[in-house]
Amino acid sequence: MAIVELKNVAKNYGGAHGGSNAVDDFNLTTRDGEFVVLVGPSGCGKSTTMRMIAGLERNTEGEILIGGKDVSQVPPKERDIAMVFQSYALYPHMSVAENMGFSLKLKKRPAAEIRAKIDEAAQTLGIEHLLARKPRELSGGQRQRVALGRAIVRNPQVFLMDEPLSNLDAKLRVDMRAEIVKLHQRLKVTTFYVTHDQVEAMTMGERIVVMKDGRIQQIDTPLNLYDYPANRFVAGFIGNPSMNFLRARYVDGTVSGEGYRFALDDARRQAVEASGAGEVWVGLRPEHLTLASDATTAGESGHAGPNRVEGTVDVVETLGAVTMVQLRVGDATLTAQLPGHQPVAFGDTLSLTCTSDRLHLFDVESDLALGQSRASAAPATAAV
Ligand SMILES: Nc1ncnc2c1ncn2[C@@H]1O[C@H](COP(=O)(O)OP(=O)(O)O)[C@@H](O)[C@H]1O
Ligand SMILES: [Mg+2]
Repeated sequence: MAIVELKNVAKNYGGAHGGSNAVDDFNLTTRDGEFVVLVGPSGCGKSTTMRMIAGLERNTEGEILIGGKDVSQVPPKERDIAMVFQSYALYPHMSVAENMGFSLKLKKRPAAEIRAKIDEAAQTLGIEHLLARKPRELSGGQRQRVALGRAIVRNPQVFLMDEPLSNLDAKLRVDMRAEIVKLHQRLKVTTFYVTHDQVEAMTMGERIVVMKDGRIQQIDTPLNLYDYPANRFVAGFIGNPSMNFLRARYVDGTVSGEGYRFALDDARRQAVEASGAGEVWVGLRPEHLTLASDATTAGESGHAGPNRVEGTVDVVETLGAVTMVQLRVGDATLTAQLPGHQPVAFGDTLSLTCTSDRLHLFDVESDLALGQSRASAAPATAAV
């Protein structure tokens, strides 16, 4: 186990990539034994960051410390890190046991010790019965278990897992992600886990680093990312289905546009007033929209209600537990997730509401969140 620190880390591949950095100004200090997830769209710099921690790429700026030690001069082999990738990279001619024990054999550990470590890891992963098989005789899920086993036997200070579940089918992915979390709870090894899947990130990460275009957008716990996204990118990326955005006019405590109108509570009102903006992005999570009753739902702040968004139904998806409805609201499309089965049909006019305390607001220039500050915002590192 070890604390990993990245300080102003940047990577420039140079060449055809021109002057732009694949990773820029990356700052993060893990806790000892923390499970950190890096999430973001393809090409945002997740793998580059992992490869720099592993020593497979040199960072062009900044410092990386593992266990308090600057590792810039430490070759990958000596960093005491085990990596698990999307491709299992098992040796095809070796048995499962031989694959798992190979790194220890290279280190010339005694055979009895290697055997004991293999058996222990195999038991943890439930693959004892597969030890004599060759990789080609295994399913994808079993191969990935072997790859994990090979990492575990090394007893590393740090695990780096780069989209390890991407080759598995959906159901197996859900099972394996729960297993990796359990494994982490047992081994308590500092782990970096990369995924482009925000559900995986939300369910696995103690803290999540949301990245875009090589830059960290926000680092926080899953729930804080959901409740207090720092900008419109994070707001849209975290949460499924994605947050809706409406471009609204702001006048006197109210945000409105064609087909909708919401009263702001005092905190949000003050934030918008302070920004001096006459327009804002209003963010509405699909699961926070509910059918409006005829009764007036005044904003919590006591400003003139009701909070309403009205549109024409375009698509209805009946999923059993919930009904997903797509509405046309002026020029915008809005998704609402309504509970249970709703008697809604194409072409209906639907009136929805959302309480003022669930509105998200973003600056139209900077895309930064307005008025969602929280007491714990500053010490994101210390909070967990
Ligand atoms: N070896 C390389 N040489 C040049 N550019 C690279 C190399 N590896 C990655 N890149 C570029 O760096 C950026 C980040 O890539 P990567 O770290 O692989 O992203 P991710 O893992 O988030 O999908 C991308 O623009 C990618 O094209
Ligand atoms: Mg990658």
